[in-house]
Amino acid sequence: MSQELLTGRSAFVELQALAEQQKPLVDLFSDDPTRAEKMTVAAGSLTLDFSKQRVGAEVLKALEKLALEVDLPGRIAALFAGEKVNLSEDRAALHTALRAPSGKRPAGLEAVDEQLERMAALVEKVQSGVWRGFSGKRITDVVNLGVGGSDLGPLMVTQALREYTRPEAAHLKVHFASTIDGSQLFDLLAHLNPETTLFTISSKSFTTIDTLSNADTVRAWLGGYCPDSELLHRCHFVGVSASAEKMTAWGLPEANQLYFWDWVGGRFSLWATIGLPIALALGMPVFRELLAGAHELDEHFRSAPPLENLPMLLALLGVWNVNCLDIRAHAILPYDGRLKYFPSYLEQLEMESNGKSVTREGVPLDYATCPVLWGEIGANAQHAFYQLLHQGTQAVASDFIIAASRYESMKDSGHYESLMTQHELNIANCLAQSRVLALGNAAVDPTDNPFRHYPGNQPSSSLVVDSLNARSLGALIALYEHKVYAQASLWGINPFDQWGVELGKQVAKELLPYLNNVGARFASDDSDKSRRAALPQGLRSHNGFLYLKPG
Ligand code: F6P
Repeated sequence: MSQELLTGRSAFVELQALAEQQKPLVDLFSDDPTRAEKMTVAAGSLTLDFSKQRVGAEVLKALEKLALEVDLPGRIAALFAGEKVNLSEDRAALHTALRAPSGKRPAGLEAVDEQLERMAALVEKVQSGVWRGFSGKRITDVVNLGVGGSDLGPLMVTQALREYTRPEAAHLKVHFASTIDGSQLFDLLAHLNPETTLFTISSKSFTTIDTLSNADTVRAWLGGYCPDSELLHRCHFVGVSASAEKMTAWGLPEANQLYFWDWVGGRFSLWATIGLPIALALGMPVFRELLAGAHELDEHFRSAPPLENLPMLLALLGVWNVNCLDIRAHAILPYDGRLKYFPSYLEQLEMESNGKSVTREGVPLDYATCPVLWGEIGANAQHAFYQLLHQGTQAVASDFIIAASRYESMKDSGHYESLMTQHELNIANCLAQSRVLALGNAAVDPTDNPFRHYPGNQPSSSLVVDSLNARSLGALIALYEHKVYAQASLWGINPFDQWGVELGKQVAKELLPYLNNVGARFASDDSDKSRRAALPQGLRSHNGFLYLKPG
């Protein structure tokens, strides 16, 4: 059994034994009424209450031992030092350097500031009206074309921090289009004015067909209004990518290009120039606050001991749930409408990072890794999938996320009291749901009334954000980024590559030639037979529809 594998670690063997004798949460709470105080740790504006996790003092001790056995502090130092922690792509992963003051970065990364200031200058031009459309009008709308890490982060942050929009950005509407089918673009173009709309083409690789096909559709749309191609590219497109050559090849003038680097993972890239839509929508000072908040959490991650270290704790508790309690599902439940896109952002961050079945070195694993992670606004999900969480047959671990204070800016408004009532209702529901998931209602005997029996014992963590703003959101995102890295280190996997996304793209590319004008070609005539013969292995067409021959 390799020492590098989780199952080969002595602390893990201890944990497996402890899992056998684990008491249910209702007993853990009755055994120790001070449990909640003991299992609450804070870092800056974030407070983690993990008392509703199925752990006791012995389990925490063994988890701490596991963290040290895996040398998490050493792994963390390697990350921040810019070592090539991304083995399969032979790269560093230095998203932390994007938000660190220059003195706190590995040497030779001066370009980080250059690109940040280049982005700030571009934002200034657009917001101040210096940047004009092809007919000389100022820009009123920006559409970000990107997918995955080039969409989810900027979309999530822009939505979450709207109330902090700075005056200089207030006149600009920022939209997002990511879907390869063109449906989002179709809706947007119906309402946008080609003279006053700027498009940001965000793609680390600048090869993603989803984004390039959307960009081509936009170019065709704009071309109908502005036949001068040079003018059209100069006034209506900005590119953000790690590939200057591909941006130039697409037709983007150098002055309209913003860069970042291959040592920034796509799903870790909102801190780089991929954050342009955030700065345009909210204002550059808000973006800088976001960076500052994330940096604060970076310092906590680098310095706090395991059982006081929020990312490490979430990572360790996650491994305990998945690998010792066999809980393979994880729900993200923000009790805050502003965090509407936070679950989908984490779906990519966690599952594209840790959805792996081999070690960093490529050795197959004999244990589970990333759980299936999903989520929704908590209070809304109460009316959607909480039935399953409370009375289903699935063990599910959950993260409840809530802001302690709200609506400070509304104190003088006539509906402040009513808003605060809604805030208190929201908190009451958040606390109630995590409590019932943990404790159930042991009082009701299932034989008496099976429909009203709540077994409970569903573990959860509660994350309280003092007040949701750019700084605290920066910290919250960095918390989950570091949880992902710490968890990958515990599992011995590489969280920074994503080889699993390639084959599907390749097969789609191979299929495309056969789909062109599908309807016309296949439904047309008998010569269909010869065309069918030309179809690739395993594909068949019937009535003009392609299908995969079973087996
Ligand atoms: O297909 C997955 C992926 O490569 C993600 O890792 C990435 O965030 C997304 O596609 C978009 O990639 P790009 O920014 O290169 O267009």
